[in-house]
Amino acid sequence: MSSASNERVLSGMRPTGKLHLGHYHGVLKNWVKLQHEYECFFFVADWHALTTHYEDPGVIADSVWDMVVDWLAAGVNPSAAKLFLQSRVPEHAELHLLLSMMTPLGWLERVPTYKDQQDKLKDKDLATYGFLGYPLLQSADILIYRAGRVPVGEDQVAHVELTREIARRFNHLYGREPGFEEKAEEAVRKIGKKAAKLFYKLRKAYTEQGDSEALAVARSLIEDQQNISIGDKERLLGYLEGGGRIILPEPEALLTPTSKMPGLDGQKMSKSYNNTIALRDDPDEVAQRLSRMPTDPARVRRNDPGDPDKCPVWQLHQVYTDDSTRAEVAEGCRTARIGCLDCKAHVIEGVRAELEPIQARAREYQNDINAVRTIIDEGCEEARDVARETMEEVRQVMGLAYR
Ligand code: TRP
Ligand code: SF4
Repeated sequence: MSSASNERVLSGMRPTGKLHLGHYHGVLKNWVKLQHEYECFFFVADWHALTTHYEDPGVIADSVWDMVVDWLAAGVNPSAAKLFLQSRVPEHAELHLLLSMMTPLGWLERVPTYKDQQDKLKDKDLATYGFLGYPLLQSADILIYRAGRVPVGEDQVAHVELTREIARRFNHLYGREPGFEEKAEEAVRKIGKKAAKLFYKLRKAYTEQGDSEALAVARSLIEDQQNISIGDKERLLGYLEGGGRIILPEPEALLTPTSKMPGLDGQKMSKSYNNTIALRDDPDEVAQRLSRMPTDPARVRRNDPGDPDKCPVWQLHQVYTDDSTRAEVAEGCRTARIGCLDCKAHVIEGVRAELEPIQARAREYQNDINAVRTIIDEGCEEARDVARETMEEVRQVMGLAYR
């Protein structure tokens, strides 16, 4: 089942270094927007970082609090979103373990990032059990909150896809409790005569004619029921589709538009290209690095005309300046009316203006790191409440209720 009706968002970020403007334009601005539209859970994926940094875990410890400060500085709001650390919600590990029991090895070996990352990170030995299980740990992260939407970049879509398959397999194996049909029919009686009649009609349209419109209507009918338990809702959702109870709903990837943020050399901004501007870099130094950026190689002297399309600075204009500035700069470049430093001044101004409030907020949080710890403590508690509830049910259906 897809769960378009589930308005909970979950996403995580690995703490492996300082955040830069690429993260800001790619991920953080998106989180800031989502936090007002959905119930959001954002977490520091420290266990995920260990799968690749197990030999030098120091970077993880160094990055965790800086990363949370950067989130807050970028506008992620702890009263709108729940912020927590993965390793402080150990239920993730328990679900990961339990899911591993029913996960075919081939499913993990086929995840494209498994081979890709091993090839890319040649200096690291990633032929480990932990690294093979990386996407399954991610599935546990998502499923434990029964999140409906997972904002991720292109490279992570396969992991959400795997999560859907895991959820489907789990529900298939463990959603068929004894007496499921009777219990489901009992649940139908609880929603009242009129709604029950409609439910059966829609169910028939879906299971007999594959009417997906009817499926959608029936789902929202179930969601709208105020007087039945979550367990009964899940039974009805499962019964609707002719299967068992839906214990772990399938999430959907919410594809983050790829960041257009170029680095200081015109390639995509990325730590591995050494072309980043970190959110907390000193503004004067940032200005200097921007003034030293390469430009159109044809503009050797001030009087040589240039072509913005051959210049990495021009790409930064797309992010930082308005249409009229861009029109003026392009004309000035092509006619050699302006110099490259004049042109760069606009970009420098734009980057400065963007970094200034971020850095001011970062300083505040940095000076009161206890407040940041409290935010995380509270987020962990809230996350754990949800995670514990899911685990109760998971243990029960997997036959661990005797504990
Ligand atoms: N694997 C993700 C990345 O490298 C981070 C991550 C871990 C994540 N668990 C998650 C993202 C759950 C979304 C949902 O970016
Ligand atoms: Fe690049 Fe601007 Fe110089 Fe033209 S004027 S080459 S766009 S920096």
